[in-house]
Formats: sequence, structure tokens, C-alpha cells
Amino acid sequence: MTRTAAVPTRPAARRRPTPTETARLLPASGGPTYREHLDRVGPLPAAGPGLIQEVLESGLRGRGGAGFPTGRKMVAVRGRRGPAVVVANGTEGEPLSAKDRVLLARNPHLVLDGLVAVGAALRGDRIIIAVERARQDTVAALRHALVERPDHGPVIELVQTPSRYIAGQETALVRWINGGEARPVFGNRIYERGVAGRPTLVDNVETLAHVGLIARFGAGWFRLIGPPAEPGSMLVTVTGGVDRPGVYEVPIGSSLTQLLGQVGARRVQALLVGGYFGTWVGGERIAAVPLSAEGLATVGSRPGCGVIVALPDDVCAWAEVATVAEFYSAHSAGQCGPCVFGLEDIARAVRGVLAGDPEAEAAARHWTAMVKGRGACHLPDGAAGFVESALDVFGGEIADHRLGRCQRPHHGYLPSPAPGDWR
Ligand SMILES: Cc1cc2nc3c(=O)[nH]c(=O)nc-3n(C[C@H](O)[C@H](O)[C@H](O)COP(=O)(O)O)c2cc1C
Ligand code: SF4
Repeated sequence: MTRTAAVPTRPAARRRPTPTETARLLPASGGPTYREHLDRVGPLPAAGPGLIQEVLESGLRGRGGAGFPTGRKMVAVRGRRGPAVVVANGTEGEPLSAKDRVLLARNPHLVLDGLVAVGAALRGDRIIIAVERARQDTVAALRHALVERPDHGPVIELVQTPSRYIAGQETALVRWINGGEARPVFGNRIYERGVAGRPTLVDNVETLAHVGLIARFGAGWFRLIGPPAEPGSMLVTVTGGVDRPGVYEVPIGSSLTQLLGQVGARRVQALLVGGYFGTWVGGERIAAVPLSAEGLATVGSRPGCGVIVALPDDVCAWAEVATVAEFYSAHSAGQCGPCVFGLEDIARAVRGVLAGDPEAEAAARHWTAMVKGRGACHLPDGAAGFVESALDVFGGEIADHRLGRCQRPHHGYLPSPAPGDWR
């Protein structure tokens, strides 16, 4: 009997990132092309319903702001009748967030892989990626990436949304894709009836990039970093009074103080955690706080979409708070009473605090309590949480304004971009 000499096998196409590697989404080397992407992580295995179980076991939570378990969202859509639609939400309306567009520029194929894999797991026959129309550099990067992908893959539709904060809220996004205005819909359960009346899943682009890796390397690998209740890495946009602002990828649960050291934060008066939808945390309270939902909950905060603004101790905090209160008022979709009137009342009260009006603090507390939990979307909750945390953290400065003693400059770390069209 002849024996054939052992033929050396080709190196496995599936290359496993080293378990300790934390640069999962923003690779340390290699560019954004399809070839470079495949060299980094290998081809995407064919995904089926098994991926839903894998995502459930991974413990992945959405990175768009609310932190809902991604696997449970998949189960909700999978349990409905009819073909599903999957939408990647890359609209990134949060004014200071840059993580989604940096991810789409540096690793677009990982996001598209996640979208394709979720589409296959849900037997979706329509998959869509949405980005803000004003971000033409992101649109161009995505167009290029879509052309590069193999012809046998599913068609991915690229849609460009209006520049409105609220346009990224999932019911507003679905309504706009359906040909309407980008305003939220009251009580709309998109997992039952979303795009074209079909069961629809909307996931943030960062969430989908994690799915692109879970589909390759499994739930166990995903859990190698981060605490058991909140595994994985997350993208954070760090800005404000720091020497090295930018988008960083960190393991969930890592030290906030260490991150501030890494970015060169100057003497911090307070942090705004979670962006405009987030809350202020006093500088003295951040020392032992890990960057996780569990850790931040101990100081009344949460990671949200991962924006962290370091406010230095030599600027007027209330001037920053007033800018954001105006932003909220300007960005109401004008559909619900508490939002239309309440957000303007909150903005007026905060202007009053800044101007030293002695009645203003009580008015701000009154109006934030009035709008909470009301409205078709959570916009009023975002405004209320932001202003209430400012009242707690910058309470001492209210008296300074009342007595005309605040001499700190108005820096303008927090911008208030004007709203665009509804279509
Ligand atoms: C006012 C408002 C604005 C939002 N803007 C965005 C956004 O720009 N991008 C995003 O991914 N999610 C945004 N969301 C959250 C979406 O409604 C939705 O929960 C998210 O896209 C789901 O993705 P995830 O489960 O992967 O986090 C917003 C929500 C609200 C209330
Ligand atoms: S709560 Fe405000 S933003 Fe949300 S739908 Fe109602 S009016 Fe529009």
C-alpha cells in the first residue's frame, strides 16, 4: 500500500485575534479594505439561527445608548411572522459622539459583516445601513466598501438620513425609511411592524461590528474581556478639557481615572458621561468608578453611547448646561405637549439659573419632574436627566450666579448644532 506524503495544509483562513487583544473594533494595523479586513479576521462563516443563541450567550448589549441585550432583540424579531428587515443605525446624532463614524471609516466591513450575519440569522430579505446625509465622507467610505464586497453576498441598501438628533431614534428612523418624516412614532413596536410593515431590527453599527466578531470567534471569545455581566470592549469618544481627545476602544469595566490619565485630562470639575442623553458626575466621585453600566450606576450615571466630556474646573458649568438645554428645546419633534412646552420651560429655567434668577432652580426642578416619562420617545427623559444631574453636581454654583460671583469664562465645550430638515 502506498502512502501519500502528508501535504502541508494551508494556514487556516480563520485567524483568531489573540485573546487578550482589546483592539477588536479599531484594529492596531491594516486599513479598511476588504482584503485587509479578511487578512485580519478571516471570512465570515455562513450564519443561521444558531447565531441568535451565540449572541444571547455572549451577553452583548447594544452600543447605541440604551444597552438592551442584542440577543433578546433578535429573538423578538425572529418570533414574528414574515421576512424581517435589519437596519444598521449609523446616524450618530449625538453632537459629540464620533465613535460610529470612526468605526465606519476604519473597519466598515466588520459592521457590514455583522449586518449580513444578523440578516441571515433572522432570514431577513432586506438589509439597510443608515448614515447621516451631512456626513458625506462616511457615505463615500461606505459606498467604496459596498462595491468591494463579493457579488454573491446579499444586497445592502445605503440610506442617508436628515441631520436631526431625533432621526436616530429607531421609530423615527423606520418612519423615515418608510417615506415619512424622521419623527418618532408613539407606541410603535418595530419588532412587529417596522420597515414596510415587516418585523424590523434596528441595531447600532458598533453593536453589529461586535456581532461580526461573535459570528467568527464565538461567545466564549467575546467574554474574554469585560465583567461577566457586561462583557466585551466598547468605543468611547473622549472630549472636553483633554490633551488627546478622540475615539478609544476600552474593555468594559476599565478604570475611568486611568482613561482620563491616558487622554491627558486637565483638572476635572465634572464629567458628562453618556453625552447629551447622559448625566453629570462630580469630579470627586469618579476615582473608583469602572466604566460599566454597573459601576456608573453607583454614581447615578450610565455609559449611554460612550461619550465622555471632561469639564475643567476653570470654566462656567451652567453656561454649558444652558447650551444643551437650548439644544433639547430646538430638537423637539413638536408632536407631544410635554416635549414642545416642557423643553422650552426647562431651557428658560436654566437660562434663569445662569442669569442669577432666584426662582430658577425651583422652576428647573419642577419642569424636569413634569416631563419625565412622557412623550412618544425618550427625548424629554434625556433633557430631564441631564438637567437634574447638573442641579445636583453644580448646585454650589447656583448661589454664585445668584450673588453675581461667578467669574468663570464661558468656554463652549458643548456645541448646539441647529436642527436640519425632517426629510
Ligand atoms: C433621542 C434619541 C436619539 C437616538 N439616536 C441614536 C443614534 O444616533 N444612533 C443609534 O444607534 N441609536 C440612537 N438611539 C437609540 C435607538 O432608538 C435604538 O435604540 C438603537 O439604534 C438600537 O441599537 P442598539 O440596540 O444596538 O443599541 C436614539 C434614541 C433616542 C431616544
Ligand atoms: S417626545 Fe418630543 S421628540 Fe419625542 S416624539 Fe414627542 S415631541 Fe417628538
